Amino acid sequence: MVWHSGKTDVTKGQLFRQVPRLLFGSGVISRLGQLLPPIGSGRLFIIDSVLEEQNIAKRLPIGHSDVVEWFPAGEHEPSTAQVDELRDRIVGRSTYLPTGVVGVGGGSTMDVAKAVSVMLTNEGSSSQYQGWDLLRRPGVFKVGVPTLAGSGAEASRTSVLTGPTKKFGINSDFSMFDAVVLDSSLISGVPRDQRLYSGMDCFIHCVESLQGTMINELARSYATQGLDLCTKVFLEGGSDEELMTASFMGGASIVNSEVGVCHALSYGLSMELGFRHGFANCVVFNVLDDYYGEWVNRFRTILRAHDICIPKGVCSGLDSDAMNRMVAMTMKMERPLINALGEDWQDQFTPGEILSLYESM
Ligand SMILES: [Fe+2]
Repeated sequence: MVWHSGKTDVTKGQLFRQVPRLLFGSGVISRLGQLLPPIGSGRLFIIDSVLEEQNIAKRLPIGHSDVVEWFPAGEHEPSTAQVDELRDRIVGRSTYLPTGVVGVGGGSTMDVAKAVSVMLTNEGSSSQYQGWDLLRRPGVFKVGVPTLAGSGAEASRTSVLTGPTKKFGINSDFSMFDAVVLDSSLISGVPRDQRLYSGMDCFIHCVESLQGTMINELARSYATQGLDLCTKVFLEGGSDEELMTASFMGGASIVNSEVGVCHALSYGLSMELGFRHGFANCVVFNVLDDYYGEWVNRFRTILRAHDICIPKGVCSGLDSDAMNRMVAMTMKMERPLINALGEDWQDQFTPGEILSLYESM
């Protein structure tokens, strides 16, 4: 008999990361309490303020010592300053940390909930942790409840925040949710344009994952199925449950591979023009024929089917300083660019090429 040496060969295989607990199905929000830790010192509910008038709080198991923070996710992309301020306020209220953090809303609210959870246990400003694997400690137990489908934030380990000098994700195993509730009834009232832009974020995640160099067979299966479902939803009238599934699968795929050229460029647009993530991605993807070929045509077919026209000349009002900041931002997105173009990405994806892509949007 051959005994295992007990040592792990880190060169073999890959750690596949995914959210360990899922509640799935229409109406399962009523079972959220099953996923939450006991109230103890109180749980923190971070809820998109747009949901306040929909009486979402009545559907949540909020106890007397829980804290509710209405987050203004609709105003602009979330920032490190907002996360720090919220964290400081929560820490200032009690000598005990919350026993859990629950994020209820779209991708921005999901990202803020993930960031606050880890910033309750990691010192300093969240801007210090924008990058890959910089967090030192696990966060507070966190649960995501998406009310918009597409961003994949419910499945990913990324919390994208606008910082003092860059828009960048906190990317860490500690910034993944411990559980998520995928309740399709929560996305039924999303406005048409928002549903499409966010859905195209999912479409683009799947394409970037599939076309990238960091893909593995398991991530490929998630992305392939996510892409099929997403296309079905927008071209054949698929259901909200299918869209929610596509979003989760796209997110799970990029956790275990990476995004690509579109995301590397879109953060610059959001930073300088304040574009929301899904819309910024659509503006960028519309000019990426040379990188994603047929997928860009498929994307345009979907847009036409929904009478959505992507604007052109969006950078025409920006001065050269702003253009240069966007180019510099894009050049910092090394991992997505390695995924999309390989280790020698800088040979073909030069500042001049990036600038001309921005000018063509
Ligand atoms: Fe995205």
